[in-house]
Amino acid sequence: MIKVSPSLLSADFSDLKTDLAKLAQAGADYVHMDIMDGHFVNNITFGYDQLKMMKKVCDIPFDTHLMIENPDKYIEKFAESSDIITVHAEACIHLDRTIQLIHSCGCKAGVALCPSTDENVLKYVIDKIDLALVMSVNPGFGGQSFIESVVPKITRIKEMLGGRDCLIEVDGGINAKTAKTVVDAGANLLVAGSYVFGGDIKERIDSLREVK
Ligand code: DX5
Ligand code: ZN
Repeated sequence: MIKVSPSLLSADFSDLKTDLAKLAQAGADYVHMDIMDGHFVNNITFGYDQLKMMKKVCDIPFDTHLMIENPDKYIEKFAESSDIITVHAEACIHLDRTIQLIHSCGCKAGVALCPSTDENVLKYVIDKIDLALVMSVNPGFGGQSFIESVVPKITRIKEMLGGRDCLIEVDGGINAKTAKTVVDAGANLLVAGSYVFGGDIKERIDSLREVK
């Protein structure tokens, strides 16, 4: 079963409440929250206070993607409104400890890898994570083109998991065509921003689920 996590990055920032309601009506499995700090990536989005306000008007689980330096400092705050918190391996000096911290705050723990990062950074934490996020664009902005060279990484992570139940999420440049490629490689959770918000939201979400 393929799950879809539309990225709010492509929503109307002047009317997020309306777009959240549209996602709920369209049956989104998660809302993908792209948190950017202007340091780890060259862009700034929103923070935990905005997330908390959105949670009050939205029942869909929040899939929070932290593209920030020093994530440990903020995990407790983001955990108040998130179901999954994903940190970047490249931003964590003590990745194992950060995963423990996310779990201790009551959230599922994900680890994201930039396109150039080797999947082997997951080797010694593979049994502890609930989600592996394979970035198929360089993080920072929506609307970029899918980077094809990450596809074998998805399959290798699936092999590393050895049949264990774990989300394999792919983020960046996902549309009906690239969705098929990544699902065939082993992905089971798809993030899409510009594709989902660039047309009829329900039709677009359904089209991603139906690639399998
Ligand atoms: C990029 C973000 C993505 C982005 C995806 O740094 O992590 O979640 O919103 O946008 P699209 O689907 O437009 O590539
Ligand atoms: Zn993201």
